[in-house]
Amino acid sequence: MTGNVLVAGAGSTLARALAEGLARRGHGLVLAARDAAEAKRTAADLGLRFRVPAAALGFDARDAGATAALVPQAEAALPGGLAGVVVAFAAMPDQEEIERDRTAGLAMIDVNVRSTMAILESAAALLETRPGSFLCAFSSVAGDRGRRKNYSYGATKAALSTAMEGLSARLAPKGVTVLCVKPGPADSAMTWGLFPSSPLLAQPDTVARDILSALARGRSVVYTPWYWRPVMAVLRALPAAVFRRLPI
Ligand SMILES: NC(=O)c1ccc[n+]([C@@H]2O[C@H](COP(=O)([O-])OP(=O)(O)OC[C@H]3O[C@@H](n4cnc5c(N)ncnc54)[C@H](OP(=O)(O)O)[C@@H]3O)[C@@H](O)[C@H]2O)c1
Repeated sequence: MTGNVLVAGAGSTLARALAEGLARRGHGLVLAARDAAEAKRTAADLGLRFRVPAAALGFDARDAGATAALVPQAEAALPGGLAGVVVAFAAMPDQEEIERDRTAGLAMIDVNVRSTMAILESAAALLETRPGSFLCAFSSVAGDRGRRKNYSYGATKAALSTAMEGLSARLAPKGVTVLCVKPGPADSAMTWGLFPSSPLLAQPDTVARDILSALARGRSVVYTPWYWRPVMAVLRALPAAVFRRLPI
């Protein structure tokens, strides 16, 4: 796979590692983030270091107009258009905060579901005539089962995983890879302080490497690190009466 890739949510810790891996493999980059100046600095850095075309766009996922315009803007940002789209942005308010304040939960749904789905649909319409292209979005192991400590965020990721499964069924026959990424806890701004010194906290480079390998193999789902696949298979198989007693 080659060509330009839009990374929506390029300020994310995991997306930064992935963007570097994509640039290392020769992909041009269109980095879209809330902090446009920072995205511009990162694009300039990666473009220079890996000798790839790179552009930056400012984008807030809570702005419906900006969401609708993002894929067309990214398509026009670099010669040759897009060969891939990565959606990495998300919000994860504390579950107790959501229980106290419904607006926090609604804002999260707006970002994690409405905006994410709008970009994925827009990207699918563009890429479905481009065999060899790809769509990739960050879901989570949190979407596989509803935990009492994180079920609202998990529900947004469950919606995304289901959408990615359907998009894969729609686009795979057209030669387009649709990859749903399911990381376990990874070291990033989102998880800062949540899993102090946990040996299970993955490094962003590991997550990026797993995604690039899954894309190269045309996979539709990747658990990262790999051991989350068997862990989640066991957790999914537990009866609800047992699962709800777990202190997780
Ligand atoms: N880290 C983990 O353990 C883990 C596990 C499973 C799944 N994930 C998923 O992996 C993806 C990347 O997360 P991360 O771990 O790299 O966390 P992160 O560094 O906190 O990245 C989240 C990004 O989302 C962006 N964002 C939030 N609201 C936005 C909005 N309204 N408009 C535009 N951008 C917005 C943030 O932008 P700002 O930089 O402007 O704040 C930030 O760059 C997310 O989808 C997350 O749900 C992470």
